[in-house]
Amino acid sequence: MAREQPPRRELAWTPLQNRTESNTRMKLTRCGKITLGIVVTVIAAVIIGLIVHFIFYGKTHFYYHISFKVNNIDYDSKFEKPYSQEYMDLNEKIVSLVNETFHGSKLRRQYVKCHVVQVSRAKGKVVIHAVLKFMSYLKCKAAKFWDRIETILHQKLNGETGSLHIDSSSFTFSDMEIPTAENLLHNCCGQRTITPSGNKVAGGVNAEEGEWPWQASLQQNSVHRCGATLISNSWLVTAAHCFINANDPRKWNVSFGLLLSHPQTQRGIKNIIIHEHYRYPAHDNDIAVVNLSSPVLYTSNIRRVCLPEANHTFPPNSDVVVTGWGSLKSDGSISNILQKGAMKIIDNKTCNKEEIYSGVIKPSMLCAGFLNGKVDACQGDSGGPLVSADQKGTWFLAGIVSWGDECALPNKPGVYTRVTYYRDWIMSKTGL
Ligand code: ARG
Repeated sequence: MAREQPPRRELAWTPLQNRTESNTRMKLTRCGKITLGIVVTVIAAVIIGLIVHFIFYGKTHFYYHISFKVNNIDYDSKFEKPYSQEYMDLNEKIVSLVNETFHGSKLRRQYVKCHVVQVSRAKGKVVIHAVLKFMSYLKCKAAKFWDRIETILHQKLNGETGSLHIDSSSFTFSDMEIPTAENLLHNCCGQRTITPSGNKVAGGVNAEEGEWPWQASLQQNSVHRCGATLISNSWLVTAAHCFINANDPRKWNVSFGLLLSHPQTQRGIKNIIIHEHYRYPAHDNDIAVVNLSSPVLYTSNIRRVCLPEANHTFPPNSDVVVTGWGSLKSDGSISNILQKGAMKIIDNKTCNKEEIYSGVIKPSMLCAGFLNGKVDACQGDSGGPLVSADQKGTWFLAGIVSWGDECALPNKPGVYTRVTYYRDWIMSKTGL
């Protein structure tokens, strides 16, 4: 290896005292270079560290709640359903008004988004409740933001607001804690934050965190027994047969999150309401609702599914997905990571054919899968969701995993409790 040598030949000609001097200078220079090198490296490391910190960890989010009355929009019960066209149109108007307000302001870099979280009623008109999200790299900005945001909004609401006649005297503004804001932001049903990579599954495959945020695991003494679906922050819907000989709520708990081994959150159970006409071993009325010991806070990974109206139809052959930690084959063991299986709805007439379930499928049941038996739910998936997305990507609960002849056999698709059939029953027990 080539290494730099001291200039020896030169030293040989210099007098002794000069030689030592020059030697010291040379040592100093070398020392200086090393020190300089260290200083530069340290500074560079600090700068890189700061940049990385700001990019990845330094962002601080600030959330604010605003509300105001709109005098020219009459309240309609359709505004209770966030997936209704009326709600979506109103939401779009509000969001574009707020976007326009901040995009044209000094806070355009810090403004992240506006989200309508509720539409309530006052004197027959609508009151909009929205959450605004801002972002800064400096934690201390909160108080400064407060004044500036309020001023900008005040000016806008008092001035030109397009087709919306806003009652500026009704304007309220307050800051919010992050979990409260996140809870409100994730309150609407049937939405998910992530867009999963490639959903074209043929068989059951691993799900991703946040992909099926309404999925819950019902556990008896902390052992997974059944799936369940979150339909509000304190209610789950599941199958009645999960509670055969085990309907004491104190023996059960619920976990949320992709992995059974690392729950995102857990709850106890306050009450189990089993359909009054469920009689084991018959499969009719295989439905129950479960009241959590305390409400969950919605996050990007814990959200509720939409309950379809009683007259909602899930047409034969439409795409549905079943999810659960159930076994991957008949008599197999459960899986730690949530599985998903894409399949099709099979109409009851087909499902009742002689070679399939020969007449035992009632109107309160729904079949899904493939007649060649490719994908199916299995033991341990019971009570879990069979969901279907509408054209806008909002997910509805179509079925509850109930029964089947073994798993994934040809001509033996999965049989589900038809949720639309029990929509009024769910409403009567939960008030939802
Ligand atoms: N009864 C089963 C359970 O308790 C679910 C069966 C679903 N079977 C099927 N082939 N789709 O987990």
